[in-house]
Amino acid sequence: MTLRVLGSGAGGGFPQWNCNCVQCTAVRAGSPHHRARTQSSIAVGGPDDWLLVNASPDILTQLQRSPALQPARAVRDTGIAAVLLCDGQIDHSTGLYMLRERGTPLPLWTTRPAFEDLSQGNPILRVLSHYCGVDWNELPIDGTSFSVPGVAGLRLTAMPLDSKPAPYSPHRERPVPGDNIGLVFENLRTGGRVFYAPGLGEISPLVWETLGTVDAVMVDGTFWTDDEMIRLGFSKKTARDIGHLPQSGPGGMLDWLARLPASTRKLLIHINNTNPILDESSPERRAVEAAGVEVTFDGLELTF
Ligand code: MLT
Ligand code: MN
Ligand code: ZN
Repeated sequence: MTLRVLGSGAGGGFPQWNCNCVQCTAVRAGSPHHRARTQSSIAVGGPDDWLLVNASPDILTQLQRSPALQPARAVRDTGIAAVLLCDGQIDHSTGLYMLRERGTPLPLWTTRPAFEDLSQGNPILRVLSHYCGVDWNELPIDGTSFSVPGVAGLRLTAMPLDSKPAPYSPHRERPVPGDNIGLVFENLRTGGRVFYAPGLGEISPLVWETLGTVDAVMVDGTFWTDDEMIRLGFSKKTARDIGHLPQSGPGGMLDWLARLPASTRKLLIHINNTNPILDESSPERRAVEAAGVEVTFDGLELTF
């Protein structure tokens, strides 16, 4: 089974449309040390039928770059058997609009809080009901495993994460379990297991326990430092304030990943354009690589 990274960037992508920071300028200028990135999304399954996990606003470009997701078995067809969202964030959900031409309701898996946010605060699902509509399935967060019809051999288990709902959410400052989830993908044939959490604010005991049971972890790579956006003058909020655990510093993501066995593959995803690890010649990038941690890129595929 394949996990394909469709988009490895955080919200805004890389370069971000209105950003002229050193890094966005470098990637626009064609620097050999910087690689452009679309927004956060992966596909799991294959060879013909896939679960799209997060629907980014860049989905059409991502599909154009992923011929395997268009098996072309009929004059109108898709390899996307279903869509699952980890949260209701703009970068993970607005791609649903691009899938509106389906002939049948789109099978969609989200938690109940994300469903409510996408029906009220940002009513994408109400708008979509005027197009293909969705066939919503409540995603369990009590540890019950489930499978997604149409994606054979894949078992999923979701867990609530300590993070935040999207900025537009009516309960942004009062998070509830299910605003954000992490997922374990398990290949029922090989037993291979991958943990995926593009937005992870804190390593809870449950997350830590789970990280010890998988072959690969693909986790939040948004920010290098907690005050990254403040220092650059782009925001007044820390990484932790908006639900992302930074990589560096005591208790940061790299500290946690270093405690996992060397045999566990470790990858960062959902990387913000401000993160210095996107400069492949930077000391921060070297530190990540020296720690045995990979920086995902669009098109990376992992087999499990
Ligand atoms: C996030 O991951 O924190 C959000 O995608 C931020 C945003 O919507 O810009
Ligand atoms: Mn995001
Ligand atoms: Zn930038």
